[in-house]
Amino acid sequence: MMGGELERRLGVTHPTGQYDVVVGEGFLSRLRQLAGIDGPLAVVTDSNVGPLYADQIEDALCVITVPAGERFKTLATVQTIYDRLLAAGFDRAGTIVALGGGVVGDMAGFAAATYMRGVDFVQCPTSLLAMVDASVGAKTGVDLPQGKNLVGAFKQPTAVLADIATLQTLPPEEFAAGMAEVVKHGLIANPDLLARLEIGDWQLTARSRSSISNLQSLIADAIEVKRDVVQEDPFEQGRRATLNLGHTFGHAIEQASGYAVRHGEGVAMGLVAAANLSARLGFCSSDLQSRIEDVLAKLDLPTCIPANLSPAALYQAMGSDKKKAAGSLRFVLIRDVGHVFVMGDVAETAVLAALTDVICEESR
Ligand SMILES: NC(=O)c1ccc[n+]([C@@H]2O[C@H](COP(=O)([O-])OP(=O)(O)OC[C@H]3O[C@@H](n4cnc5c(N)ncnc54)[C@H](O)[C@@H]3O)[C@@H](O)[C@H]2O)c1
Ligand SMILES: [Zn+2]
Repeated sequence: MMGGELERRLGVTHPTGQYDVVVGEGFLSRLRQLAGIDGPLAVVTDSNVGPLYADQIEDALCVITVPAGERFKTLATVQTIYDRLLAAGFDRAGTIVALGGGVVGDMAGFAAATYMRGVDFVQCPTSLLAMVDASVGAKTGVDLPQGKNLVGAFKQPTAVLADIATLQTLPPEEFAAGMAEVVKHGLIANPDLLARLEIGDWQLTARSRSSISNLQSLIADAIEVKRDVVQEDPFEQGRRATLNLGHTFGHAIEQASGYAVRHGEGVAMGLVAAANLSARLGFCSSDLQSRIEDVLAKLDLPTCIPANLSPAALYQAMGSDKKKAAGSLRFVLIRDVGHVFVMGDVAETAVLAALTDVICEESR
């Protein structure tokens, strides 16, 4: 293994090659060396992350700072990225580096996939969600007024450098939101990861070595789950759909709340609902739902759906999810930690009953 002993390196093989995801600390100043970049480098970042970290990347041809937030994940923002790249004289020999959360990664990746028919792309995820989810798997894109992620491309990065030191400045609610995906990855494929979340042997703010290295190994293990799934199914034709555990419910909750519920929070509620539905259909014991609720609560994540959202409205919102396949809703269900599967044709009554059960108490 290269680099410091604290570094974890995960190789990802994809249909056109291979890249490494490196998890560790203090990467930004060594970016060129770690990512093997020798040509021009354009950094794309946002208005929160850029001022904190962009100057650690030396020798960039340009730093393009876009406004922070999902509402700027648009074609119009990508157009401003193209404009800046052209003005800087950035050409096909260059590498675009995404420095930020999933919004920056998705947009910079889409720009890298399309600018001059494609230039090299490196991800430096700075949010927990971007580290464990968005930066691995090659999906990039933007939102349209009609819905999220409706335009995009598969763009493999040449390296993903997850510098966990950057998490120190991530707002706590964003950290918690990322943890929902870590819980999801534990539930999908790694019982030990879930058990470690339950023990809680890491702390983001404590600067003790053991706590930092525990956090780092937790993040690396969560990435490994996603890596294994996307490696097996790079274009989402089969198993990759299991990564949507909790997401059919979660997206509907996000959408029906008018995005007042953030993605990770919706996923947390969705994981509880998916366990409830699975138990209701006889696939798992109802203890699993309680176990999931306990670990989510420990991570400062919600475990019930806001009382102002009705089961009927949520069911209707599910119908407009683009992941709906061939006219029927599909749910990722769970038999036990590490055993999930996709099922279509779930009875509407069962889904409505699960939603009713998971809506917060004050509504009843
Ligand atoms: N491509 C994929 O496979 C994939 C997977 C999951 C999610 N996504 C996308 O990712 C996006 C969500 O990602 P996100 O949760 O990272 O959102 P985000 O990029 O909006 O980041 C959340 C907030 O944290 C700030 N931030 C990020 N890192 C920081 C740091 N180190 N210090 C201080 N502030 C920091 C950002 O500026 C932003 O305000 C969505 O658009 C979603 O569609 C993509
Ligand atoms: Zn998600």
